[in-house]
Amino acid sequence: MTGATEGMKGGGYYDANSSFQAKVAASGDALLEQAVAALAVPADAPVTVADYGSSEGRNSIATVTTALSLLSARRAAGFAVLHNDLPTNDWRGLAANLAGPGSYLWRFPDTRTLFAPRSFFEPVTLPATVTLGTSGSSAHWLSRQPAGLDMPRSLYRSDAPPDQRAKILSQAAADWEAFLAARAEELQPGGVLLVQMLGTDGAPDPARVSAAGLLKLMNSCALALVDEGEIPADVYARYAFPVVPRTVDEATAPMTGSLADRLDLLHCGLNDVTSPYEAALARTGDVAAFARDYAAFTRAFSESSLRDGVFRFAKAGVDVVTDRFYAMMQDALAARPEAYPFEDLTLSVMVRRRR
Ligand SMILES: C[S@@+](CC[C@H](N)C(=O)[O-])C[C@H]1O[C@@H](n2cnc3c(N)ncnc32)[C@H](O)[C@@H]1O
Repeated sequence: MTGATEGMKGGGYYDANSSFQAKVAASGDALLEQAVAALAVPADAPVTVADYGSSEGRNSIATVTTALSLLSARRAAGFAVLHNDLPTNDWRGLAANLAGPGSYLWRFPDTRTLFAPRSFFEPVTLPATVTLGTSGSSAHWLSRQPAGLDMPRSLYRSDAPPDQRAKILSQAAADWEAFLAARAEELQPGGVLLVQMLGTDGAPDPARVSAAGLLKLMNSCALALVDEGEIPADVYARYAFPVVPRTVDEATAPMTGSLADRLDLLHCGLNDVTSPYEAALARTGDVAAFARDYAAFTRAFSESSLRDGVFRFAKAGVDVVTDRFYAMMQDALAARPEAYPFEDLTLSVMVRRRR
């Protein structure tokens, strides 16, 4: 496998199991307001909003609705909205959501909606055409597996041995630069991009890495399958879960380096978003519901990558082992609900295209 994911689990599954990502997006509302205020474009011209990594759309549509409300208060004269994701995304689900009751098209019926099914590590639309860019919980995905990995007992940035972590971080740095270079080309001069993604505080020891607790559980379930001979050890050693939380320094590096002449950094900072699954557990004490919902949340974003990178090599067959893995996770969460906290640190980055 060279690609990192084919997208989220479709057919409504991601939308039904992404309330954490919805909370991340809502935590960025004040920044979105600042982003719209910072746009240096004519106030009465038509504008294009682009959302990068829209998935099936529930959360994307919520973000775009907020953006359109803010932009109409700035008297924008007409909107185009471009939704971007991978070609293998559930585009049919996104189209259904756009025709459904939660769509911004009810409130802004003249909006022209466009789909851009292409990797966001390259330009997805014409140069200098995007007024406002947004991206929620997406830009931490890698474009591909880092080359030459050998990490038989680990799965993630937080637990990778230092020499392997260097390979992961090198891929993440190249991808982030490619993502921003493509946006620098697409943004209008004066246009603004707001990205929210997983972060880490980068402390020397121990660093707080977003989702480290959850990835620890995923790793232990996968290792149980490796140790019983279900998953080939060499396959697992070559695989890292291809999501990389960034530090503030890693996120800002391109704006002081290769993209300094094109992008101004307006904001970069970390904030905590409480896991809705842990909050519900604290409120209700319902351990079975917590284990079910937290495992389903994990399955929604991780299944495609694990199937392609690991489970398709399993002896019992990909479908059997995929179901088994998430059932193992759910059992472990039910047995020890406090043991695998999500430990979110959301990293937000806002940049403006230089004139
Ligand atoms: C966790 S979902 C976030 C969806 C939505 N923005 C939200 O906040 O709920 C991450 C999305 O990023 C997309 N994605 C990952 N890599 C991508 C790439 N290279 N190009 C475009 N989209 C990508 C996935 O397909 C997925 O839909």
